[in-house]
Amino acid sequence: MTEIQELSLCQKLKEYGRSDYYPFHMPGHKRKMSGQMPDELFKMDITEIDGFDDLHHPEGVIQRAQEKAAELYGAEETFYLIGGSTSGILSTVSAAVPSGGYLLMDRRSHRSVYHAAYLRNLRISYLYSDRLENCDIFEAVDANTVEAALHSLESGRNAAGAQNPMPDAVLITSPTYEGRIADVKSIAEAVHKRGIPLIVDEAHGAHLGFYPGFAPNSCQAGADLVIHSVHKTLPAMTQTALLHVNGNLISRERLRRYLRIYQSSSPSYVLMASIENALDQLVQNGDVLFGEFVRKWNGMMKKLSSCRYLQFLSYDCRRQDTGKLVILTRKAGLSGRQLYDMLLKEYHLQLEMAGTDHVLAMFTIGDTEEGFQRMTDALLELDQRIGQAKHLQGKAAPSPKNFYLPAACGIAEAWDGLQKYRPIGSCAGKTAGEFIHLYPPGVPLVVPGEVFTEEILKYIQECHDSGLNLQGAVSKGNELYLQII
Ligand SMILES: Cc1ncc(COP(=O)(O)O)c(C=O)c1O
Repeated sequence: MTEIQELSLCQKLKEYGRSDYYPFHMPGHKRKMSGQMPDELFKMDITEIDGFDDLHHPEGVIQRAQEKAAELYGAEETFYLIGGSTSGILSTVSAAVPSGGYLLMDRRSHRSVYHAAYLRNLRISYLYSDRLENCDIFEAVDANTVEAALHSLESGRNAAGAQNPMPDAVLITSPTYEGRIADVKSIAEAVHKRGIPLIVDEAHGAHLGFYPGFAPNSCQAGADLVIHSVHKTLPAMTQTALLHVNGNLISRERLRRYLRIYQSSSPSYVLMASIENALDQLVQNGDVLFGEFVRKWNGMMKKLSSCRYLQFLSYDCRRQDTGKLVILTRKAGLSGRQLYDMLLKEYHLQLEMAGTDHVLAMFTIGDTEEGFQRMTDALLELDQRIGQAKHLQGKAAPSPKNFYLPAACGIAEAWDGLQKYRPIGSCAGKTAGEFIHLYPPGVPLVVPGEVFTEEILKYIQECHDSGLNLQGAVSKGNELYLQII
């Protein structure tokens, strides 16, 4: 007897689009007023009508899709997200840490983690990571750092002689935006030994675990809550993400509550179908797709190893992810922005970001031979030109700084307080009233409540002067202004 295959969300939506059901319901375009947009997209864009389930109370096609995703990643339960990893981070932190509770978090977390801490008025302390030796890029948090932080909390006492409170949850980022990978298994062990849940912001790692030589995904490594941006590294539409849950340290009911709070009550079926569609491609053809991707990637890296001035973070499945091409520019005498602009203007290669002394190009299974070839040719040619023509060399990239800033007060007190703009030259020793970060990656250089040091101010000024996308500072005339409280 042949098994009856349930239709996927995508198949159902396409079939429905061809049917004669008349839509006396939302959305207002009535599946046809597509204007300049593709008709097909509008035919698939429905609301919670009969037979199409409900993301916030799934029992049918969406529930099946989530179960398939859980099976694929080895999670106990998986939720589709239509508000990006951002909605997953807000929900997981809120579910894992009670209002006013304590979160031990990666200092280099994405801003959404800080937003969760702000919204829930959390007490936070930081796990710091080391900067790589030859560039302005930070490692993922080290397992020893997590163990040491928890051990010192356990053995320490506060001023009144009472035992320090232990965190309600620990949150780390892996892979980082630049592809640095943490030893999640050891971190999960250190955290679980104390009965604390581990949240892994794995927004950049939805592809992990799918090919021999890739690091395992964090569900496989023992994390309790794992957040994946499907849209970042897999073939899915922007805003699509997944949240995986394991173990019994997290209340699933609380998690559902926060997903309802932080996500739209009208989740997009186009986005949901795009998640299932991406994962189905992996199930059906993942070995071939990732095999081809790794072959093309290795071919490119082999050719680029002949560069004499441009340098690359070398791939290492335990430390550095495949697909994140991080090009270091110091030896070439260029700033990240200069290389970024050359690749954009002269070669029409649009990169993901420019940093002080590096640029980042992202590669996925969606990249063609042509894409790999164009990047390889451009970088080989630029490397030659840098060698031949000294005039190509520009301002040397600013040297990396450290980001250990003292805090005068908590985020909420500073962010909700009365702020005023002051010229950057007069901000040393003052308390920040706003987040300051490069975007991307959206990792705060300064958090509201932290005290500006001379060193961080110089770094902020250098980022601005290098033409990087600095947010949280405004330029008036020739001067940069920052918000203080
Ligand atoms: C490390 C990290 N976490 C979370 C996010 C948020 O992801 P999303 O854009 O899917 O909301 C980002 C976005 O760039 C990120 O870099």
